[in-house]
Formats: sequence, C-alpha cells, structure tokens
Amino acid sequence: MSAHAPVRFGVVGCGGAAVDIAGGIARSDLATLVATHDLDLALAESLAAPARARVHDSLDALLADDLDAVYIALPHHLLAPIAERVLTAGRAALVEKPMALSLDALDRLDDRARAAGLALGVVFELRETGPALVARQLVQAEAIGRVVGIRLRTLIDKPMDYWMRGPTGRTSSPWRASRERAGGGVVLMNTIHQLDLVHAVTGLVPIEVTGVTGTLHADPASVEVEDTAAAAMRWSNGAIGSIVAGAHVPGMERGETVELDGTDGAIRMPDPYGPGDCSVFLRRPWGELPAGRWVDVPSPVTDPFRATIDGFAAPVRDGVPAPVGVPAVRSALGAVLRLYEDAAARPADATALTDDHVQGRTA
Ligand SMILES: NC(=O)c1ccc[n+]([C@@H]2O[C@H](COP(=O)([O-])OP(=O)(O)OC[C@H]3O[C@@H](n4cnc5c(N)ncnc54)[C@H](O)[C@@H]3O)[C@@H](O)[C@H]2O)c1
Repeated sequence: MSAHAPVRFGVVGCGGAAVDIAGGIARSDLATLVATHDLDLALAESLAAPARARVHDSLDALLADDLDAVYIALPHHLLAPIAERVLTAGRAALVEKPMALSLDALDRLDDRARAAGLALGVVFELRETGPALVARQLVQAEAIGRVVGIRLRTLIDKPMDYWMRGPTGRTSSPWRASRERAGGGVVLMNTIHQLDLVHAVTGLVPIEVTGVTGTLHADPASVEVEDTAAAAMRWSNGAIGSIVAGAHVPGMERGETVELDGTDGAIRMPDPYGPGDCSVFLRRPWGELPAGRWVDVPSPVTDPFRATIDGFAAPVRDGVPAPVGVPAVRSALGAVLRLYEDAAARPADATALTDDHVQGRTA
C-alpha cells in the first residue's frame, strides 16, 4: 500500500451496524470500501452498491481480494473467530464491540495481531462524540479535581421486536436473544459503550464489579439474556460508581447518560445518540467557565463514524498498532464479564434481607 493511497476496506457482515461504518468510510479521505460479504447476498450488494465495491459469496473469496483491512460486524459469537481468520490472512481487523466473548479469546486475538504486526481495532465510536471530547478535556485538565463518583445509566425503551430485528430492522435474526450467540443482553450490548466512554474520558479502568441481572420485561422463554441490570463498581483510582441498565424502560428517552463527580466539580454527559451538551458544575473557575453554577459547555460538531475509520486507517497505513483496540476492550468487556459472573453467583431467589431482618428493622 502506498503511503498516500486510501486503506482498502472489506466488510464482513452487512447488517445494521455496517451501514454507519460504510458511511464513515465513504466520508473518510483515508479509506475506501472495495469489497463486502454477508450470508445474505442482498445485504452485501446494498452495502457495496454506493461504493461500487465487489461482492463476495464467501469469506475466503473476500480475503483473497486486494484488501488492507476488514471491518467485522457479526453476531457476537462470530466476532473473534472471524477476526482471527482475517488476521491469519494478513489483513488488519476493525472489529465491532465487544470484539470477543471472553478475555482469553481477546488475548489470543491480541497475540495473533502482534505476531503478524497487524492493526487490531474496535469500534467504540461514542468516544468521538462532541460531549465526550469536552468531558475528556475537562477531566484531563483536572477542572473537576479527582474523579470520585461515576454513575452510568443505560435506560432505553426498546420495542419487543428488537430481539428479532435489532435496533434498525435491516436484518431479522434472534441472535441477540441467545446467550450462546450474543453472550449477554443490555449490559454487553449497550452499557459497554458507556464503560468505554468513562475509560476514554478519565483513563480509569474498572477494578471491582458486583451486580444483579434479570430478564424482567421480555419473555425469558425466548430471551435468554438480561434486559435489566444494576451494579456497584470501583474504578482504578478508588472512584465508586454504579450502573443501572434497562432495555424496556417504559417511556424512556435519552437515558444513556454518564455522570462524573469530582472533588472540585461535576460533569453530566448527555445521551450521545442525539443533540446535547455536557452540563458542568465547578467549585472554582476554570478558563472561561464560572464557579458555583451549572453551565452547558457547547460541544464541537464531530462525525464519530468517520473519526473511527480515520483513527484506524492511519495506523494501518503507517504499520503501527490501532490506538483504540485490545486495552480498551479489556477495560469495558472485563467489567461486563465480571458483572455477569457476580450476578450468576447469586441464585435468583436468594435474599440477604431475610424476613427476620426486614421484620427486625420495621418492628
Ligand atoms: N458500534 C455501534 O454503535 C454498533 C451498533 C449496532 C451494532 N453493533 C455491533 O455490530 C455487530 C453486528 O450487529 P448488527 O446490529 O449489525 O447485527 P445484524 O444482525 O443487523 O447484522 C449481522 C449481519 O451478519 C450476517 N452474518 C451472520 N453470520 C454470518 C457469517 N457467518 N458470515 C457472513 N455474514 C454473516 C447477517 O446476515 C447480518 O446481515 C455486533 O457486534 C453489535 O454489537 C455496534
């Protein structure tokens, strides 16, 4: 690849997520879409058409094409195995979150990428949104002091057919409801983005997670993963935090938020899937920001999918590791898996607050 030629991307899995990434590739000066593959040929063709990309009816055929990198957007249980095949074929891999369903599988991918000297990146595009950039700047300049409180809310009112059709309806498959194929529900699918946001904004990693999960709105006979969860967390600097997550919270709008409390101020990040700025409260002025009252800090306008592609294509071109890759996944996925392990260790009918305890307190 010439230092100035755009990175040639293939796409494997042309469902809902791939549409946004194909848009990011189209808007990037550093990348070009040259090939697609999906078991559903019509989806591969529809993604390829605007870019006049080639359509392949097998992964092997796509990997034999003239490509530099492959973007992988498949049901969760296929992400790591297909990424391994992509790396083995000598192509860089940009993998959708969660990249893998275990930390062992993540480490194997990491080893494979390092041994081959190939970039291995993950799509965590919310770190490229305007409010995330504002929050990162404020936290890293210590405008709010030391971060001590971190509250994540992942509250969404998904329609029940989400479990069959996903958020966009471009595809129809029950993989999201399957424990084996999805690996988890709302926490793995959605909260993982916010866990990564906190990591990107603060540089902290989760070190302790306790949690409870349940399938309370959807029918557990058909939805094997959680639609509701809560957790208590400790982060690497000692900050204490929480997660509340729900996939079917009635009437909920704009409920995917992050709240950061520092020793000298606080930041409320808006739901990143729509307009909105960070609200900031400071105990002492910082730059032009006043102390003692909440102010909205205007967000720069960004193109998160293009930025994700640019951020991956430049390292592929330059032959260096991807800046958002295995360590970011390890931080976020590690917390999700720990939450699931902790929740699974508690029988659903267990109660620490026994009748005696409750009666003792109310007597
Ligand atoms: N970063 C984001 O904001 C974002 C948003 C949505 C989804 N995602 C992630 O993207 C991934 C895919 O999710 P989605 O919503 O696009 O799912 P989807 O079901 O809409 O698309 C998956 C596609 O994979 C195809 N497929 C399945 N098995 C295949 C195989 N063996 N070979 C080739 N193609 C195969 C299906 O036909 C389908 O078109 C998941 O990891 C999901 O978590 C990320």
